[in-house]
This record gives sequence, structure tokens and C-alpha cells, in this order.
Amino acid sequence: INTIGILTSGGDAPGMNAAIRAVVRTALAAGKKVKGIRRGYSGLLEEDIIDMDAKSVADIISRGGTVLYTARCAEFRTEEGQRKGAEICKKHGIDGVVVIGGDGSFQGAKKLANLGINTIALPGTIDLDIACTDYTIGFDTAVNTAMEAIDKVRDTSTSHERCSIIEVMGRNAGYIALWCGIANGAEDILITERYDHNENRIINNIIEKRKVGKKHHIIINAEGIGDSYAMAKRIEAATGMETRATIIGHIQRGGSPTCKDRVYASAMGAKAVDLLSAGATNRVVGYRNGEFVDYDIDEALNMTKDIDQYLFDISKKLSR
Ligand code: F6P
Repeated sequence: INTIGILTSGGDAPGMNAAIRAVVRTALAAGKKVKGIRRGYSGLLEEDIIDMDAKSVADIISRGGTVLYTARCAEFRTEEGQRKGAEICKKHGIDGVVVIGGDGSFQGAKKLANLGINTIALPGTIDLDIACTDYTIGFDTAVNTAMEAIDKVRDTSTSHERCSIIEVMGRNAGYIALWCGIANGAEDILITERYDHNENRIINNIIEKRKVGKKHHIIINAEGIGDSYAMAKRIEAATGMETRATIIGHIQRGGSPTCKDRVYASAMGAKAVDLLSAGATNRVVGYRNGEFVDYDIDEALNMTKDIDQYLFDISKKLSR
């Protein structure tokens, strides 16, 4: 591999810049050239490609977002788009690509690999919903941001003796909700993987907790549970407890990455280059059982994972 292209795709995640920096600097140290492909697969198809040197990644490790910009690209889901992408790589002398993103981005990486461009994927998403890895770039920062925001809502919720429904991101996955639920001492945690849609149970829980003197009632909703504002209205009507909904939203995707996100993303970026240097392709880097590992992308995409049942069980006991 002589020239490595790097792109970020899908939702951005804090720590992506640390991974970009690691890819660039590890590749340069190994005597390779690096090209930044801006705006994900869209930028690839539009040949929005820049040369990167050691200086181009200076001062970015502490910054959220991605200096390469990101996008979701419908055209790259078509065979024609994928062929065009591989040809553009060849035209620019790019013989290896590092893709940072979620499952959807891995599909594109796999297609590039099939078309002869050596490709390595890194798990970059705040959602933690990638089956082959216990860690994804951005989750740690996002969950800490959400935790701090929830602490603040909790203060005002207690002062007003209210019920607060706080919705966190995660698309269909409940990892952010579960972790915040435990970290913030929520009374109820609703995650799509386990929610039985029994609102009466929640209403009774609020009434019972009120009786034993709880001054607030915090419910963490994973995105995907439903309309949190409408739920707040129903709960207020049924319990008589003033109820507010807060959707934390995109704040969770921004901000300076935590130490963990900087270090793990750096290790993953460096590993991607090592894999390319060793001739590997169609691999995804993960973190499992305390080690940075790699899997075949097809194998990784076929894996499934579930919410940690032990964490879910203790979250229930701790909220009593
Ligand atoms: O995948 C990351 C994520 O932030 C999800 O948690 C959320 O469902 C989605 O992206 C939001 O996407 P957008 O920024 O396009 O609204």
C-alpha cells in the first residue's frame, strides 16, 4: 500500500479526529502518503480529496466532530456508485482506505474491498451498536455529556418535585440510556430492547415512589421509545405529578472527546494502518476483552449483540 485514503461517514462522533490523526501520522511514519476524502462517500464520488501531512492533523485530537466532514450517501448504496468510487480511488492512486463510521459505513467499506481497494473499517458511533466490539469511538464522550445534562435536569426536577422524562440518543439501541440510567440514578430506564410498553407500570411506580417521599422521578427514554412529550402529558394526567420532557439531542454528538475516546480512537487508527501495511483488507477493528482485535467485515456485520442483561438487572435494583 502506497497511498491511504481516509474518510468519516454517517453520524459524527467525538474521537473521530483522534482516529484521523492516528491514521495520518502512523501512515506517514511508515513512508506512505495520505489523502483525506471529505464528506464521506459523497465526497469520494465528488472527488473532494485533499493531501494530508503531519501538520494537517495538528491540534485536532481535542476537538469534537470530524475535520473531514461527514455525510450519509444514498448513491454509494448503488452498484454504479460503488464502482465509480473504486475508480476514483484508483485515479487518485489510493490503494488503501480507512473508513470510520457505523454499520452502514461498513457496508460501503465492504463494497470498496470487493472492488479491489484494500479497506479497513473503524467503529465510529456514539450509539455503541456495533456487534463485533465492546467499544465504539464516541460513546464514552456522548454518555458523559448526556450524564452531565441529566444531572442538571435532575436538580431542577427535584426543586419543583416534578417527574422528568429525558430522551437520549442511540437510534434503536439503548446503551446510552442504560448507562445514563445507572449513572444518573434514574427511577425508570426505558430501552427499546426491553420495553414492554406498559405505561401503567410506570405510572404505578411514580405513585408508589411519591408515597415513600421521593422528590422527583427521572425517566430516561432511549430514542425509539416514542414521543417523550406526549408521554409526559399522559403521565402528568395519570399521576397528577407535574411532568416535563427534555430531549437532549445533538449536544450528545459534540464536544471535546474524553481521554478514553482519544486513546482508544488513536489505537484503532494506528491499527488500521498496521493492517493495511500487512496487506489486510475487508477488516473491521474492534475492542474485545481488553484487546484491540480485527474481524472480517462480513463476519462482523453478521454478528449480533444485546444489551448487557446484568447491567439492566442491577439498574432495576438500584432505582428502588
Ligand atoms: O447514529 C448516531 C445518531 O446520533 C443516533 O443516535 C441518532 O438516531 C441519529 O444519529 C441522528 O441522526 P441525524 O444527525 O441525522 O439527525
